[in-house]
Amino acid sequence: MPYIGIDFGTSNSVVANFQYGQADVLPNSEGQKWTPSVVTMRRDGSLSFGQEAKENFDEERSIRSIKRILGSGERVPFVGQNLRTEQIATMLFSKLKADAQKTINENFTKAVVTIPANSKGLARHATKLCAGAAGLQVLTLINEPTAAAICYGLNAQQDQTVLVYDFGGGTLDVTILRIHHGVFEEISSKGVGKLGGDDLDTALGNLLGRRFMEKTGYDILNSPFKHQFMLAV
Ligand SMILES: Nc1ncnc2c1ncn2[C@@H]1O[C@H](COP(=O)(O)OP(=O)(O)OP(=O)(O)O)[C@@H](O)[C@H]1O
Ligand SMILES: [Mg+2]
Repeated sequence: MPYIGIDFGTSNSVVANFQYGQADVLPNSEGQKWTPSVVTMRRDGSLSFGQEAKENFDEERSIRSIKRILGSGERVPFVGQNLRTEQIATMLFSKLKADAQKTINENFTKAVVTIPANSKGLARHATKLCAGAAGLQVLTLINEPTAAAICYGLNAQQDQTVLVYDFGGGTLDVTILRIHHGVFEEISSKGVGKLGGDDLDTALGNLLGRRFMEKTGYDILNSPFKHQFMLAV
């Protein structure tokens, strides 16, 4: 029964294939080992994902960091439409699935998906729903740092207790895992939601934006140059 592992990230997503007791990251169709979780509508109306979408990011034509509000019921404006967060996440899951199938020339209908340690019911449910809508039955949801710790533990020779922290674009998660005779025991897995690179970027952007305003009198954070300014930050 072939299945893939998906780390659906706020900023980047990664797909892995588990075979012969080993997890291997699958490159996407561009040969990259991670796919930016970004959707951009091209000028001709077609959709681009991943690196291309990130490079052509546009305030009106792009969506990023959808995972942060997945399952919240919030609507997202996107080129004249008001999309549900689930619709966008489903598009991203579909892209990850299609790329994985292309890379190893196999059809996948099942997946193990990781979620932040602090994920609440609605976000967990929405993650399953979106993977399902993309044609992937979710076998199980694993806490993100726990998945990393298990992967490490697969090759560990000795019994040990490891701590893994995962500082992402949206959340900071920590897992303590005991590896004992090849059995994994998740001792604890906790996270801080809304504490990731996005939050650091916003905090730094606001600080510098305020200073810029004090010096020049120009409110760059509420101007057409906001995106360029934030990129520079
Ligand atoms: N070289 C770097 N130095 C500092 N920060 C970086 C660097 N490269 C990427 N980042 C930041 O790391 C974050 C992305 O990390 P990562 O891909 O692990 O997140 P994610 O898995 O998508 O998010 P999450 O797990 O929270 O859903 C972004 O905020 C990005 O700006
Ligand atoms: Mg992550």
